[in-house]
Amino acid sequence: MNLDLPTDKTYDESVKTEKKDKLVFAPETYQYTLYTLSEDELVNSPIEQFDKWFEEALKSDEPIPESVVFSTCSLPSGRVSSRYVLLKELDKRGFLIFSNWDTSKKEKDVETNKYASLTFLWKKFQRQVRVEGIVERLTYEESQEYYGVRPRGSKIGAWASPQSKVLKNREELDKIVAAKEKEFEGLTDDEIKCPPKWGGIRIVPLEVEFWQGRQSRLHDRLSYRRESIETDEWEVVRLAP
Ligand SMILES: Cc1cc2nc3c(=O)[nH]c(=O)nc-3n(C[C@H](O)[C@H](O)[C@H](O)COP(=O)(O)O)c2cc1C
Repeated sequence: MNLDLPTDKTYDESVKTEKKDKLVFAPETYQYTLYTLSEDELVNSPIEQFDKWFEEALKSDEPIPESVVFSTCSLPSGRVSSRYVLLKELDKRGFLIFSNWDTSKKEKDVETNKYASLTFLWKKFQRQVRVEGIVERLTYEESQEYYGVRPRGSKIGAWASPQSKVLKNREELDKIVAAKEKEFEGLTDDEIKCPPKWGGIRIVPLEVEFWQGRQSRLHDRLSYRRESIETDEWEVVRLAP
């Protein structure tokens, strides 16, 4: 199967040289023609539907299908920030990601605002999934379960790095890591336990949209919605592209 995106070949190289004020102008226009998505192929819950698409992405040569843009918003400023993270677990309740909940920007945002979103892009399938929901923190024991399977270097990194703090230079980080490695020298991998401010959160969905690219931007967009995270009653709506 040829998964290359067909393009409309609209990009004109001369634009860049002629119009120096626009460093980028109308890069190639892609056409999305591989698949369709209809109401009758959706399964009952958005989590199961996600699992179905995710499995397909995992089995393909999609690079890092579990990479996802995690967006948060700080209140009262309303300033939004996004970053890639990795989806590490999916359960019946929601989507689990792992990070530093001490010094990171996402911690500062989540502290003030429980709403967050995840955006997946699977280019090989011309698919996007958008999740909007509410952040729940995992217990220390739940975080430890995942932390336990991380390689030693990543375990030590989680202890060492004051994520998103300003460093003087690379050497400063290397020194902190070396000190932590020394501190844990006598411990086996299993004996290195999860740092207290490191771990998982679950994004419990209120809305999950499945987007399948179609020709001429007339995409299929089917969105599961519910009133609150207390109910399992999902409504599915079709959205205009
Ligand atoms: C593909 C990819 C995956 C990443 N996965 C994670 C992750 O699972 N957890 C994490 O804390 N940071 C991850 N990062 C780094 C974050 O993007 C980000 O730099 C870091 O979490 C600090 O963000 P913050 O200060 O906005 O909270 C990843 C980056 C990339 C490019």
